Amino acid sequence: MFKTFPKLDSARRTTDVSGDDERSSDSNRDARAKKNASRQRLFGPKAEVFPILSRSKSSHRRQEMPFLERSRSPSQVSKEGHRADEGALGFSPLHPLLGAEVPGVNLADVGREEILTILAPALEKYGLLLFRGQDISPQEFFNFIKAFPDVDLDEVSAAKNPFAQGDPSCLPELPGVRALGNAISDPALHRGATPELNETGMEWHTDGCGITLLYAAQVPAGPVKRTTLWANGYHAYNMLDDELKRMAREMQATFGAKHVLEGSVREIYRRGGRMSDNGLKLVRGVDALDLSPEEFRKREDPKTNPRRYAHYNGSPVRRHPFTDRLTLFTVPVYLESCKGMDIEQARDLLEQILLPGTSGDSVYVHEWSQGDVVLWDNRSTLHSATKPVEGPQLMYQTFLRTKTPMGFVEPADN
Ligand SMILES: [Fe+2]
Repeated sequence: MFKTFPKLDSARRTTDVSGDDERSSDSNRDARAKKNASRQRLFGPKAEVFPILSRSKSSHRRQEMPFLERSRSPSQVSKEGHRADEGALGFSPLHPLLGAEVPGVNLADVGREEILTILAPALEKYGLLLFRGQDISPQEFFNFIKAFPDVDLDEVSAAKNPFAQGDPSCLPELPGVRALGNAISDPALHRGATPELNETGMEWHTDGCGITLLYAAQVPAGPVKRTTLWANGYHAYNMLDDELKRMAREMQATFGAKHVLEGSVREIYRRGGRMSDNGLKLVRGVDALDLSPEEFRKREDPKTNPRRYAHYNGSPVRRHPFTDRLTLFTVPVYLESCKGMDIEQARDLLEQILLPGTSGDSVYVHEWSQGDVVLWDNRSTLHSATKPVEGPQLMYQTFLRTKTPMGFVEPADN
């Protein structure tokens, strides 16, 4: 049975993930109109028919999602329309603040039109999408993710991608895909690649790219499951009181490798770097004595690979390029300095800003099962790995760069 996706205008209006609408200022109306036109170009015309939905298992029980009710006034979309959207999409919310499972979909069969008209708007709306029970190759994995709108697959800019420069975990035949863990699926495909095993514990951050995809091809066989944490960046900002919001907007921070080192967080951990238990503050940097002279020189040189950190510099409050909403977008482990305060004050302030939205009931905890694929929008969410679990395991990951950067905020913005 084919289903029809609701008009994109409705879909755009229902993308609030926390229920607090930041878009009420008349002065922003023209800018919003431009954004909407831009989105229409990105996502294409409204939907027609979508074969993937015919395989959707609509019997999956839906949870309450109070933010959706709060975010939709009767003038925007009727309750009947709301139910129709959910029914057609077959989404099942994972947490009151973010995430939805999309049941009954084989990602190897999903077409570009379905991605543009259903999954990409849903990613904007929910921040995170979960597809369980997948059995796909790294090539199929990459084919799926690269069809999302606004992606930057240009080879020239890819060569400058700081995430791909010398990353030993990327598959030689498929450099857009990294291997995480300690197992391999195909010796020919993994040839020469050194899988990354995150060993840092909790470390809240947003990846520097627009979208990230993780696929659990093999999970540890024991009863203990590995978990990853996600938080809603819009909600994290909106939880703050007015004074802390203002301080966050005014914060002019610089990010880089000055207190740690360039490279993987695993390597930082191996060299002695440590974050606080809540994953928000560097409590011990990497000692200069633990660096080679060349590493020390690179770390102290402000010109060393600035692309990796430049897009974090400034306020941790940013505007999502397509929803226009303010969100927290930052990487505490790489905080180097902040205008008007010393580094300890800056670390304390950033921790204070991030803590409410990344703790307690604000956090979605995902327990990984074999075949899980999680796709998330780094522009509206924060995430943290947790401690590794013993046993053979393999994940595939793609950091998918997008062309449109995060918007900056002025201290007076709201
Ligand atoms: Fe990450």
